[in-house]
Amino acid sequence: MSGTDRVRKAVIPAAGLGTRFLPATKSQPKEMLPVVDKPSIQYVVEEAVRAGLTDILVITGRGKRAIEDHFDRNFELEFYLEQKGKHDLLKEVQETSDLGNIHFIRQRDPLGLGHAVSAAREHVGDEPFAVLLGDDIMVDDSQLLISMLDLHQRYGRSVLALKEVGPDRISSYGCVEPEAVDGELVTVRSIVEKPQREEAPSNLAVMGRYVFTPEIFDALDRIKPGAGGELQLTDAIQLLLDSQTVYGRTFEHGRFDIGQKLDFLYANVELALDRPDLGPEFSAFLVDLMHRRGLI
Ligand code: UTP
Repeated sequence: MSGTDRVRKAVIPAAGLGTRFLPATKSQPKEMLPVVDKPSIQYVVEEAVRAGLTDILVITGRGKRAIEDHFDRNFELEFYLEQKGKHDLLKEVQETSDLGNIHFIRQRDPLGLGHAVSAAREHVGDEPFAVLLGDDIMVDDSQLLISMLDLHQRYGRSVLALKEVGPDRISSYGCVEPEAVDGELVTVRSIVEKPQREEAPSNLAVMGRYVFTPEIFDALDRIKPGAGGELQLTDAIQLLLDSQTVYGRTFEHGRFDIGQKLDFLYANVELALDRPDLGPEFSAFLVDLMHRRGLI
């Protein structure tokens, strides 16, 4: 099969409990933790919009109200900023609520990523769609997502983002067994969630971005609790492989898992250094700090 409809819809699961980032996530969603001065989920929504996705569904859960408020209007704040003549800030605040057509639904219980994606079925309908994890940010001007959408357009099949990871880290991810590799394009033979290091079929881990054919929903209906007792998206992809080819698109740089403390810190440092208004002073601070600590 070749050639298919353009993907319009993005699903952003953001209902996880964020236990790896406690205590910060006790009473606030991890997706709202700021990277420099923007909540991480805003980077994810902006990435989707930049890639041409016009309909965005965020899967939230209990205690995640702040996400909805963030993308809504805040008239009181806007009025205050207007009165004070803070027009740049006003523009930024308004842009956040004008990002696109954003919808929200709740996953009642956080039973796993597979369960969260299946909650999108009614909204997505019989169309291909993208999934962007709400706690994974990509700093690449949407290049990875755009190329995955192009691959979907060309082959009409599902596409997973894949990154090589070290053997000691593979047990944290979904891991694919590649069938054929052609540059950055991989054909997936099988996929397994959180394999033991010695059982991992390769060093290629699935990373936070997917484009799916709608048949993934039938597969999601058939999965049982898997790794960690959760309904795993990975298990549904394995079922999808029985009837359809699934592709992978490898990439190397730009991804930060902000649900993980170290990656969150890396993201803040890198993005702050990139900022014209903060970068020069922050980099001088870092150099001074390294000297004081005897690191350089
Ligand atoms: P993670 O495993 O990274 O999120 O799930 P988590 O469960 O919040 O993390 P920890 O392990 O407790 O720290 C990957 C993505 O799937 C979403 C999460 O919000 C995250 O974007 N997710 C996970 C759901 O939406 N629902 C779930 O039931 C589980």
